[in-house]
Amino acid sequence: MPRATPAHEPTASPAERRSRRSALLAWYDANKRDLPWRRTRDPYAVWISEIMLQQTRVDSAKEHYRRFLERFPTVRALATADLADVLRVWAGLGYYRRARMLHAAAQAVLERYGGKLPATVDELRALPGIGDYTSGAIASIAFGVPAPAIDGNVDRVLSRWLAFQGDPRSTAGRARIRAEAAALVEGVDRPGDWTQALMELGAVVCTPARPSCLICPVASSCHARLRGLESEIPPPKARRAAVAVEHAAAVIEDRGRWLLVKRPEESVNAGLYEFPTAELTEGGDVRRALASVVRESAGLEISVGETAVEVRHTITYRRIRVSAFHAKPRDRRTADGHSGRASAALETIWVVPSDASKAGLTAAARKIAGALLRESASDT
Ligand code: ADE
Repeated sequence: MPRATPAHEPTASPAERRSRRSALLAWYDANKRDLPWRRTRDPYAVWISEIMLQQTRVDSAKEHYRRFLERFPTVRALATADLADVLRVWAGLGYYRRARMLHAAAQAVLERYGGKLPATVDELRALPGIGDYTSGAIASIAFGVPAPAIDGNVDRVLSRWLAFQGDPRSTAGRARIRAEAAALVEGVDRPGDWTQALMELGAVVCTPARPSCLICPVASSCHARLRGLESEIPPPKARRAAVAVEHAAAVIEDRGRWLLVKRPEESVNAGLYEFPTAELTEGGDVRRALASVVRESAGLEISVGETAVEVRHTITYRRIRVSAFHAKPRDRRTADGHSGRASAALETIWVVPSDASKAGLTAAARKIAGALLRESASDT
């Protein structure tokens, strides 16, 4: 018996690719948003923008991009800066691992290439924090290399063009999308504009929900559209269920200052400061848990008082409620001599509340400090 052939083979003909290339580039030339990183081809600036845009929306990235380049205008300026300064300027963008990798990569670029970013995908890919997507984006945008750069937008656009109904993030899906992305970029004479045009289409026209097919420059060769499948492609991701987590934080106050601890290397938010924090287990004694965390992390005995404020924040699938408690050192002399004590597992600092935000705080610590400062302002 002959095998049934699939109703549609998800691939593209050379003629379709040619038509998509010219239609999309013409649309991009006429419609592209004026974004600050599109006014430069400085590879360093392109690199900074691509790292920021990995997990940050264009609108929020704009101001941070400007500030970051003002403070660290060159690879050398970034490589020779203190990591703490870099994290402070990064504050607000979140996902601080990106900033730490950026700093390490700038040092590698200074050491290996005298401060000039290399122009090949392989050399870029070997730098900290630069993966398949970012190496392709920098190589194409800054150096005109015909390298594909595949992010979520590009996955969606290409899946729809091809009417590829599988998961573009599966092994087979990745191979399929990558092959198409590579074939497309190979044949363009402006790889950097092509990379950005694909992203732009995904961001403003070929959106996840309700794509604007009526104004799409490539609708006539989009197989998802032609088959009425644009809303079903790509298939929705299976969402990880949210988990509720309870934390307690100690706002230890002594002579008008707060004690903050530095998050350890290799942890989430490494290098940022926070109020000493305990993750609570059901039925545990909150105050005892906090006192024990402070003893271990800061080498300090405390007494824990009343709840000060409560804040909520979410890290990926963890919905965290943090109850912050007033606390005091049990022994003032301990607090006096206390900074970098041998018995403390973490680095600690005492800060005046109004200056706390200058230290580079975690999101939760920023919320707690903000709530406390607002409270004390409304008391006076
Ligand atoms: N997202 C990732 N890179 C981008 C770029 N260069 N322009 C707009 N959005 C982006």
